[in-house]
Amino acid sequence: MAPLADQIASRRTFAIISHPDAGKTTLTEKLLLYTGSIQTAGSVKGKSSSKHAVSDWMDIEKERGISVTSSVLQFTYDGCCVNILDTPGHQDFSEDTYRTLMAADAAVMVIDAAKGVEAQTKKLFKVCTLRHIPIFTFVNKLDREARDPFDLMEEIESVLGIGTYPMNWPIGCGQNFRGVFNRRARRVIAFEGDGHANATKKVAEIEAELGAPELGELIGEANHENLMDDIELLDGAGDELDYAAVSCGKLSPVFFGSALTNFGVEPFLKEFLRLAPSPLPYTDTLTGEQVDPQRDDFSGFVFKIQANMDKNHRDRIAFVRICSGKFERGMEAFHMQGGKKLKLATGTSLMADDRAIVDEAYAGDIVGLFDPGIFSIGDTVCTGKTHVQFPEIPTFAPEMFSRITQVNTLKRKQFVKGMEELAQEGAIQIFREPGFGMESVIVGVVGVLQLEVLEQRLKSEYGVEVRRTGLPYTDVRWIKTDPKTFEFSSLNVTRDTLKVEDMRGRRLLLFTSPWNVNWAVDKNPDIELSEVGNWE
Ligand code: G4P
Repeated sequence: MAPLADQIASRRTFAIISHPDAGKTTLTEKLLLYTGSIQTAGSVKGKSSSKHAVSDWMDIEKERGISVTSSVLQFTYDGCCVNILDTPGHQDFSEDTYRTLMAADAAVMVIDAAKGVEAQTKKLFKVCTLRHIPIFTFVNKLDREARDPFDLMEEIESVLGIGTYPMNWPIGCGQNFRGVFNRRARRVIAFEGDGHANATKKVAEIEAELGAPELGELIGEANHENLMDDIELLDGAGDELDYAAVSCGKLSPVFFGSALTNFGVEPFLKEFLRLAPSPLPYTDTLTGEQVDPQRDDFSGFVFKIQANMDKNHRDRIAFVRICSGKFERGMEAFHMQGGKKLKLATGTSLMADDRAIVDEAYAGDIVGLFDPGIFSIGDTVCTGKTHVQFPEIPTFAPEMFSRITQVNTLKRKQFVKGMEELAQEGAIQIFREPGFGMESVIVGVVGVLQLEVLEQRLKSEYGVEVRRTGLPYTDVRWIKTDPKTFEFSSLNVTRDTLKVEDMRGRRLLLFTSPWNVNWAVDKNPDIELSEVGNWE
């Protein structure tokens, strides 16, 4: 077994983001195919296939063909140990994407070559930039008619506000897509064969110098000439790849390919792994210092909690991103928020459809810990004499509110349990009016699909039917002022402003318009209002 330093240095942990249907799932699957992690394409997730993997565990995902929850896939390739964190494509789950990105050291943005930057690409990209991590672009579906690559790069730059640097360049598109030109190696990689849709085998590649006589036959004379013109244009622009700009997310290395036919997947993977960072340090809020991933002491934080992943076990898994050192199954670690030592007894990792027990893992890896209900999102676990604590993960302000009432009042216990567990998972935020019980709860979400998922999960996992009534609130403000210094009920707010408490007893106001927010600010000058609620 390689020493700690080498193990950690070999880690590459990243998330893939895309507008639904751009090809994120297909690309993930092909990465696994290339690395020998799966034998047949179709086993990660096939919307129309009968095989569903762990990332597809929820009925709603199957019905809608959207990926709601995140899972983690690990494989080794070219001496790297790669962790892919899957993220939901739909904007209603962008908070989940944000939390997942907290655990990633890089992001890959998949773009459909015919459609360019789509609505969801924009939203998820924005979430990505909050992390200041390197963002790589994979322009997909070159096996179909695609837009001009220069246009696509310009669109990425103008719409997303990030610089682009083509790492490779496509040779033709549609039926005429013959290969890519690797700009660093200055070699043409011509693909052999017709590019079978849903190719399940690695694609054969032939390499040649630009201008080599055999290229006319390999990629076609016209393609060869166009390529030479394009490369001259690109080279004319003259700039070298600026690693510093890539590292802070200001410049995106761009790759072109077709995940479905496997064209360009391997060249992307190789270059990506060369450029993507090994585990980045996280800040210790106790000292303000960066925690070196290479230090001996183990540390990590919970970025995601998921209940009932396996209905037979009805368990809850806390996903921990390891920030430093080595994790060993059964090790004792200090849970900072709980103020207690814990035995990290069950480590699981998710790989396709079996949940293997993890015996050891290193900084950069994700482990799923069995959670008897003690962890919250953002919690730190660590070993060693000097404790560390990682920053809180901020919650997004909900944009949509509903009152959720149970239909059958005899199921009160299950209803309360379900609502609380789902809120702890961060799937929803729940609010109560002071003095009211849990029989009717106000739920805040970023998008309506979260409410549908809530309804379905309460039914299938907790056996509870609920009624959902839309509420007119649009804006929310947490009250940061010490609750002992004012009387909540006597705050001067408009009549349609609602005073509520969140799960942690923090007080907040729900408003029906920004005008009402301004009213509250004007009439209560001693009260400090905040747009974000943080996990404490
Ligand atoms: P997503 O996770 O980003 O939502 O996209 P996904 O990979 O599921 O791909 C969406 C659709 O696009 C799928 O077709 C998939 O086969 C197709 N696709 C992905 N990559 C490529 C590519 O490089 N070229 C072409 N031509 N198509 C591609 P579908 O018919 O919606 O689903 P399925 O029935 O094939 O699973």
